[in-house]
Amino acid sequence: MDNGLKAKDPDLSVDLGGGLALKNPVMTASGTFAYGEEASKYLDISVLGAIVVKGISLEPRQGNPPPRIVETPSGMLNSIGLQNVGVDVFLSEPFLGERGATVVVNILGSSTEEYLKVAELLSTDSRISALEVNISCPNVKEGGVQFGMNPDMASGLIRSLRETTDLHLMVKLTPNCGDIVGIARAVEDAGADSLSLINTITGMVIDVGKKRPVLGSVVGGLSGPAIRPVALRMVYEAVGAVDIPVVGIGGISETDDALQFLIAGAAAVQVGTATFLDPCVPLNILEGIRSYMIDGGMSALSDIVNTLELG
Ligand SMILES: Cc1cc2nc3c(=O)[nH]c(=O)nc-3n(C[C@H](O)[C@H](O)[C@H](O)COP(=O)(O)O)c2cc1C
Repeated sequence: MDNGLKAKDPDLSVDLGGGLALKNPVMTASGTFAYGEEASKYLDISVLGAIVVKGISLEPRQGNPPPRIVETPSGMLNSIGLQNVGVDVFLSEPFLGERGATVVVNILGSSTEEYLKVAELLSTDSRISALEVNISCPNVKEGGVQFGMNPDMASGLIRSLRETTDLHLMVKLTPNCGDIVGIARAVEDAGADSLSLINTITGMVIDVGKKRPVLGSVVGGLSGPAIRPVALRMVYEAVGAVDIPVVGIGGISETDDALQFLIAGAAAVQVGTATFLDPCVPLNILEGIRSYMIDGGMSALSDIVNTLELG
């Protein structure tokens, strides 16, 4: 400011409802920050809005066969699958919450019963602030159909989870469904506190010399800047369809990217693939949003969120 007065520090806090209040809107995305311990060597993770940890299932899982990652134009394709240490080991290990971070645990399951059991066990731990429900998992009992592709299945799962836990339920939507608005409305009606989107977009890469798929599991999930316009469009549509907060995810790599999602109506954002290049990207984005607000004389995030001008 050139009037000699110190700019007032803007209020970056955001209340996502259902007991989840964040100091600011910048979170890490599940599966890209592991359990947060590694990254805490490089940055003070407690400064971020929240750390969303890798998806946790009831039992440990090995994930998919290698190779599991391939670089693509402006992004990457991964087929890590559901690899994780399982809920018991997760709860017994040193914990991010002890470093002052707000912890959101991403959960997954192959049946409603598995999701419920994982949620029940995690709900006993006061260091956990919220559950992010990954509904991109196949329901083995129903023949491998993904929960997130079908509004009835998605809503049945969230309704059962709502009865099982008092933790904030953030439901993570898959872009690989035909109708993002239909799924968004179904999980809102079933009791979700917030939505997060998008998960990765299914894709494939072929090694022409070998005439073989590059990934061991043939197809994988596309992430990174390549998916950002798709993610932004879906967030914009979801915001217009539901009354609960929407968290934007997909290719966010710098401040302007995050601002686009906030202007489109996202209450907060998650940063994923970009942290592979530099684990400090979420912090840089947080500082970028703060500077943008100071420069624009804004006092609260509501000065940015859902301010898209049309026409
Ligand atoms: C290596 C890798 C692992 C992931 N694991 C999970 C996961 O366990 N659960 C989940 O809901 N999303 C998972 N995701 C999806 C991300 O959280 C995020 O939704 C997606 O990558 C899009 O964001 P980005 O472009 O910023 O990475 C994973 C993504 C990557 C790249």
